[in-house]
Amino acid sequence: MQVLVVGSGGREHALVWALKKSPKVDHVYCAPGNAGIAADAECVDIPVSELEKLADFAHDKKIDLTVIGPENPLCAGIADVFRARGLAVFGPSQAAAQLEGSKDFAKKFMLKYGIPTARGNSFTQADDAKKYIRDEFSSGVRGIVVKADGLAAGKGVLVAESLDEALDFVDSCFEGNFGKAGAKVVVEEKLDGEEASILALTDGHTIVPLVSSQDHKRIFDLDQGPNTGGMGAYSPAPVVTPKAAARINDQILQPFLRGIQQENLDFRGVIFVGLMIDKGLPKVLEFNVRFGDPEIQPVLRRFEGDWFDVLDHVAHGDLANAQLVWSGEAAVSVVMAAGGYPGKYDKNDEISGLEEAEKNGAKVFHAGTSLANGKIVTAGGRVLGVSARGKTIVEAIANAYRAVEKIHFKNAHFRKDIGQKALKQHDDI
Ligand code: AMP
Ligand code: GLY
Repeated sequence: MQVLVVGSGGREHALVWALKKSPKVDHVYCAPGNAGIAADAECVDIPVSELEKLADFAHDKKIDLTVIGPENPLCAGIADVFRARGLAVFGPSQAAAQLEGSKDFAKKFMLKYGIPTARGNSFTQADDAKKYIRDEFSSGVRGIVVKADGLAAGKGVLVAESLDEALDFVDSCFEGNFGKAGAKVVVEEKLDGEEASILALTDGHTIVPLVSSQDHKRIFDLDQGPNTGGMGAYSPAPVVTPKAAARINDQILQPFLRGIQQENLDFRGVIFVGLMIDKGLPKVLEFNVRFGDPEIQPVLRRFEGDWFDVLDHVAHGDLANAQLVWSGEAAVSVVMAAGGYPGKYDKNDEISGLEEAEKNGAKVFHAGTSLANGKIVTAGGRVLGVSARGKTIVEAIANAYRAVEKIHFKNAHFRKDIGQKALKQHDDI
């Protein structure tokens, strides 16, 4: 089998790495890939925005399965372009991708199908949004969340504790700071609890969750500082207790499946449910229509089946016959970022110690690297995802950080507390 992965981050490196292990796979291409992916796949210089060129490539190379990594091409309709040309693809249609592409669409979908989520409202006028926010604060809420409706690369959400910052953010949305994405905003109540991610495969007939995971969104230890794309993740997430998992299935995943069926949405891919879990009760913060990054890194470190076979079954609408096999071990992935991220950061700094880091079973997924004069250099905000397994979460954490210590580049920044939340007591209530 010939496989094409579309994208260039840590998620795509993890996907390439897992697909390559399948005995059915002869060759993996990645478009456009990065310097680390190039060691595991043949990189093809086509940007993710060139939907027709990607389909031409898949057609010419007789690609058996294309796996789409990021949300932008999905929201631009890449799965429809491929399917119209008879090419097998893992990824939802453009219509279904609105579940991530429009927070208003997602909110309405959740309300219609009874999926628990934060109470909220959508607005197309700044004044209406501001009035709603003022009323909420006067009624005594401790915080409010304002979200630009469209894709904003993780920057379109403000969790506001004060009225003024919420109002300012509404202005910045409608003043065009997020382009078209901010022409509508969703305002919702701030939820308390602990976050977790559930990635579930679905082909429109069946929905199957992968093992649970938890990201660390803030840039600094103890969840301080601004939000990022994600600074590290681990799996399993103990906050997803057996009872919480059962509620997630009954109250979220099954209604989700009914919803996509009733709305006639062609969803053959992964739904990433961002959850807030409070005292065992899950509520949906957001849907994404792609694998979480870095969440998929520790999740795939625990996968022990044939990843190509699973994704191929999804693409062909036959998920019911796929085999998911998981290790009972834990896995952790620590993101190493360029100093300054998520603000302005440097590029082109040489990275050393990569081989050394992988000597004891760790795997370094590349997120933002490129090759310059034969050397691997930094090329993005999130640079690497250093992943390791362990018999317990404590062991996995130690193994991951042992590998991180071997890697050096100028102004490298990483959190020192990835995985610590897993050590807390979580009552199964
Ligand atoms: P989203 O893109 O909607 O997941 O929002 C990004 C981040 O903002 C989430 O991962 C949460 O940390 C936070 N967030 C979003 N919605 C809420 C909410 N209703 N209550 C508390 N935090 C939220
Ligand atoms: N790690 C969060 C995301 O992929 O959106």
